[in-house]
Amino acid sequence: MTQVNQSVLGDLDLSPQQVSNILDLAIDMKANPMSYADALKGKAVATLYEKPSLRTRVSFDVGIHKMGGHAVYLDQQNGAMGKREDVADFGGNLSCWVDAIVARVMSHDTLVELKQAASVPVVNSLCDLYHPCQALADYMSLKELFGELKGLTLAYIGDGNNVTHSLMLTGAQLGVNLVVVHPEGHGINADVEQQAQVIADNSGATITVTTDINAISNVDAIYADTWISMGDGKKLEDIIAKFQPYQITKQLMDKLNAKYFMHCQPAHRDEEVTAEVLDSEQSIIFRQAENRMWAQNALLHTLLVK
Ligand code: CP
Ligand code: NVA
Repeated sequence: MTQVNQSVLGDLDLSPQQVSNILDLAIDMKANPMSYADALKGKAVATLYEKPSLRTRVSFDVGIHKMGGHAVYLDQQNGAMGKREDVADFGGNLSCWVDAIVARVMSHDTLVELKQAASVPVVNSLCDLYHPCQALADYMSLKELFGELKGLTLAYIGDGNNVTHSLMLTGAQLGVNLVVVHPEGHGINADVEQQAQVIADNSGATITVTTDINAISNVDAIYADTWISMGDGKKLEDIIAKFQPYQITKQLMDKLNAKYFMHCQPAHRDEEVTAEVLDSEQSIIFRQAENRMWAQNALLHTLLVK
């Protein structure tokens, strides 16, 4: 059901039914793009970035164009929002011209401020806490490959971060079992874990969080992300010894019987994943990247097309 000015600042701003519908719509859009060629005709979307991006920038830009809309790219020349003018004024001004604001920000609080000031939907395209558009694309990819998501088991191995949180929250909504394995001291947000657990209890999924890489067995797919996220401030030389045992190798893929390897990218060969795995037939990273566009188009369609 479409709400008036529904924003998506975090994964739980979408109901489980909406998530499921968005994945179905995304798959249909990918198969029948011409049916949606005018869906955003006359509409404009501002996409703004406080952090670098390749996939998000291009997939929103091209995706909005494919639906007949206009994307306005606001790059980092404006610096962190709130410096040149208040975030509230940024949101108020943008609402005069555009139909939605897609924002990649340093801090989740900036999204909250933007939403308060904006009279149009605000969509999180990555913050310190969540990356909901990524999770939608990732589960769309698994749905394409497995057909049914409920009952699948996904292992996220590495630094507990924004991508982990979104995979947990959206996965729990979809009934996907999540196994999170992280080095000591690099875990996930306790509130997010608790929220995901409550949702999983309802959907019948399980959530396992551990630091013991040897404690896990049989999973359907393994997911890795960079060991150092944008804005983290960690240095590779300070963490590499701690993270090395969590590197995704062919041996680990085989041991866990994982069918697919996933990564949101940017990826770092022979850091979080060996080149052998990243470049293998089992790697679905480009499917995930392509599906960013279809999943985001389905999300924008849900929020903007009444
Ligand atoms: N996965 C992802 O969000 O990539 P970018 O940082 O390049 O947008
Ligand atoms: N966790 C990573 C994701 C990049 C798409 C980061 O925040 O840098």
